[in-house]
Amino acid sequence: MACILLTGATGYIASHTWLALKDAGYDVIGVDSYVNSSPIVLNRLREIGGFEPQFVQGDVRDASALDRCFELGKQFGGVRAVIHFAALKAVGESVERPLDYFENNIGGLLSVCQAMKRHGVYDVVFSSSATVYGKPESLPITENAPLRATNPYGQTKLMGEEMLRELERCDARWHVAYLRYFNPVGAHASGRIGEDPRGVPNNLMPYVAQVAVGKREHLNVFGNDYDTPDGTGVRDYIHVCDLAEGHVAALRYLADKGQSLTVNLGTGQGYSVLDLARAYGQACGREIPVVFAPRRPGDVDACYADPTHAFNAMGWKARRGLNDMCVDSWRWQSTNPNGFEG
Ligand code: NAD
Ligand code: WQD
Repeated sequence: MACILLTGATGYIASHTWLALKDAGYDVIGVDSYVNSSPIVLNRLREIGGFEPQFVQGDVRDASALDRCFELGKQFGGVRAVIHFAALKAVGESVERPLDYFENNIGGLLSVCQAMKRHGVYDVVFSSSATVYGKPESLPITENAPLRATNPYGQTKLMGEEMLRELERCDARWHVAYLRYFNPVGAHASGRIGEDPRGVPNNLMPYVAQVAVGKREHLNVFGNDYDTPDGTGVRDYIHVCDLAEGHVAALRYLADKGQSLTVNLGTGQGYSVLDLARAYGQACGREIPVVFAPRRPGDVDACYADPTHAFNAMGWKARRGLNDMCVDSWRWQSTNPNGFEG
């Protein structure tokens, strides 16, 4: 079976994808600098998956660290494709430190592509985001909707897509799966890996999880006058294990079809902030107290995917619902109240 290199391998989405790839029979090499993750993830992968993680600690902007990964891959017949997850991802922080985001996210992608070329590997899966649609003009969002960035983080995803498209145009050996994730949430069903944000969570579900476990008093609901059924923001939450399986499907597509692919990875179902808080309350057996607060700058009323193309092209669709997302998040949060360091 093919060997896959994961960058950002100990991060939230990559760690779940690592398990999905092993389940599907792939060999995996991981690289991460731990800039936003913990080495304990490797112990948990060993424990859940019963395998020895093949891992290089290093920054993807460091060519020698990437060369070590390709070297490690030789024991499995050589790296066949790369899934490039490594990036900084906090929208607010990207506005404060735009140059750091360009350096890490664009510099990192460039370095990964250069290493791939050095080693004769041309299949890459790129972690893109629904953020490339900016404020959507119509819903649900299809892949040919207009693209625009509304913050430096989003700009790095847009520029990343453009850079890869240009590469494809110049050299037909490159094939890219552009995966535009909607709102990844939840955790592995084992409860042993999950999302472990540093500091105050920016995203809704990790914040709600910390309210549920008693680390925060209440959820601040950012705006209740949006043009949505209950006035609170609507998003397309997708279980991280469904998302992980989407990467397996994308790798199969690249290998079988030998062509590039751009797909939304979402469920197609929008839920409001209050829907999610209510569902989480049921999952943890305790109502989530909410306080209405002003809108958060830059937020849109509603954002959800049309996931039809992902199904038609790769036969993939999300299987897990909002209840699974909350139950699995709660299992992770309640048994690891302080994340990996607890
Ligand atoms: P994460 O922060 O948990 O994972 C990213 C990993 O990359 C971390 O482990 C971090 O240490 C590592 N990393 C960052 N820069 C690095 C570098 N230069 N060298 C080596 N390692 C580096 O985030 P995540 O939520 O798992 O996101 C994974 C990818 O998916 C990112 O590209 C992100 O932009 C994208 N994405 C995430 C979301 C989301 O809401 N979580 C949505 C859409 C897209
Ligand atoms: C969801 C909803 C908030 C926190 C972000 C990035 C996007 C992508 C996914 C990477 C909104 C509301 C939130 C809170 C709240 N990441 N909310 N109280 O903004 O859709 O997307 O993560 O690519 O680029 O922008 O996700 O989880 O932050 O917010 O009321 O404490 O929850 O206003 O309506 P968002 P989110």
